[in-house]
Amino acid sequence: MARVLILGSGGREHAIAWSLDGENRHELYCAPGNPGTALLGTNVALDLDDHQALARFARVEAIELTVVGPEGPLAAGLVDYFQSEGLSIFGPSQACARLEASKLFARDFMRRHQIPHPAYVACNDKQAVREAVSELGAPVVLKADGLAAGKGVIICRSEDEVEAALVIFFDKSAFGEAGRVLSVEECLEGTEMSVFALCDGENFCLLGTAQDYKRAFDGDRGPNTGGMGSIAPSLLASQELLEEVSATIIQPTLDGMRAEGHPYVGILYAGLMIVDGAPWVIEFNVRLGDPETQVVLPLLDQSLYDLMEQALQGAVPIAHRVKPGAATCVVLAADGYPGNYDKGLPISGLDGLEGDTLLFHAGTASGDNGALLSNGGRVLSVVGLGPDLEQARDRAYANISRIDFPGSFYRKDIGQYIGLPGE
Ligand code: AMP
Ligand code: GLY
Repeated sequence: MARVLILGSGGREHAIAWSLDGENRHELYCAPGNPGTALLGTNVALDLDDHQALARFARVEAIELTVVGPEGPLAAGLVDYFQSEGLSIFGPSQACARLEASKLFARDFMRRHQIPHPAYVACNDKQAVREAVSELGAPVVLKADGLAAGKGVIICRSEDEVEAALVIFFDKSAFGEAGRVLSVEECLEGTEMSVFALCDGENFCLLGTAQDYKRAFDGDRGPNTGGMGSIAPSLLASQELLEEVSATIIQPTLDGMRAEGHPYVGILYAGLMIVDGAPWVIEFNVRLGDPETQVVLPLLDQSLYDLMEQALQGAVPIAHRVKPGAATCVVLAADGYPGNYDKGLPISGLDGLEGDTLLFHAGTASGDNGALLSNGGRVLSVVGLGPDLEQARDRAYANISRIDFPGSFYRKDIGQYIGLPGE
């Protein structure tokens, strides 16, 4: 029996807890967790910014492994702090987390190590951006250097759109400090694929692939969100392409980080654009994705705990086992998300879930008399499993249509539209 502490409170963390719970040999704690994780373990009201309090809890409760869900604590050096205190924690160091925390650090790293990436220019004022745009030619991508919860990216197809974006970045300072420096990038046109690698500093194994649906509305319209749905495996993930991703992106990244004195231990999430069959890096993240975790972990046919322990010991297995079949996740969101939305709305219809379906909580809270209330923008993830994508999707939709709260909405085209060029 291992005592495991999971940090975070979203659907991703509920899915991590579910996966570990299924191994039937762990005692789970979640900080701060959500009503879903409370069904599987003990929620602990700790602030993820308070590293000392987290370490104290881990020590006092004899936690054997801490698993970090979101990027914030990684970028803030939580892993380094736990290790300096002699505590076991799974996730990359602060130096490694720069691959996500600074888009320009990541781009410069890719340039140093010849990892396929779009042309880009670092810019810290409007004039520099205008010059970069005329050099690169529209369409271009303007990207906040720092962490912006997946929202610091504006794709501009004309000079007018560039000027409008400059107002958002520089006059309105919409992304604060994170958006004072920009990466202005060539816009890659192709199909996106997310690849998750579990890394031990030197070697890795691929945990799985997924496709994330980032826009709020059907047909990939509306504002970017944290993710409105996902499918696994990605329909593009042929053996041949995964070998190319491994050889040209994942392994060079591990080799490069090691050569620079920062061995990468943790999950490396490569957000890729597949252009004419070839993979390019859109971005690196240093953690599992949300809502990709909700579809990747149910297809994992091996102990997640053992894999994380092996990574910490520098001994990830070269291959891991994946179940056949597919998973589809549809996110139920609050009216107004990703902008402003109400909280505290009563959720109904959770009792009737059937078939091969999983329910993961994200922005929920417990009300009086066992009522479940909305408490965030992305409220629930409904995951359908099946022998193929179509059946997985049908199960997810048959079930999510029964769940309701005032103003709730979800995308109807998860798994249908896969973003192939010309679709
Ligand atoms: P990111 O936060 O870097 O994942 O960017 C959010 C979304 O913007 C990505 O999922 C892509 O759809 C898009 N994007 C970012 N960078 C590029 C790029 N260089 N070319 C094309 N699309 C991009
Ligand atoms: N779904 C995108 C992310 O987790 O960054």
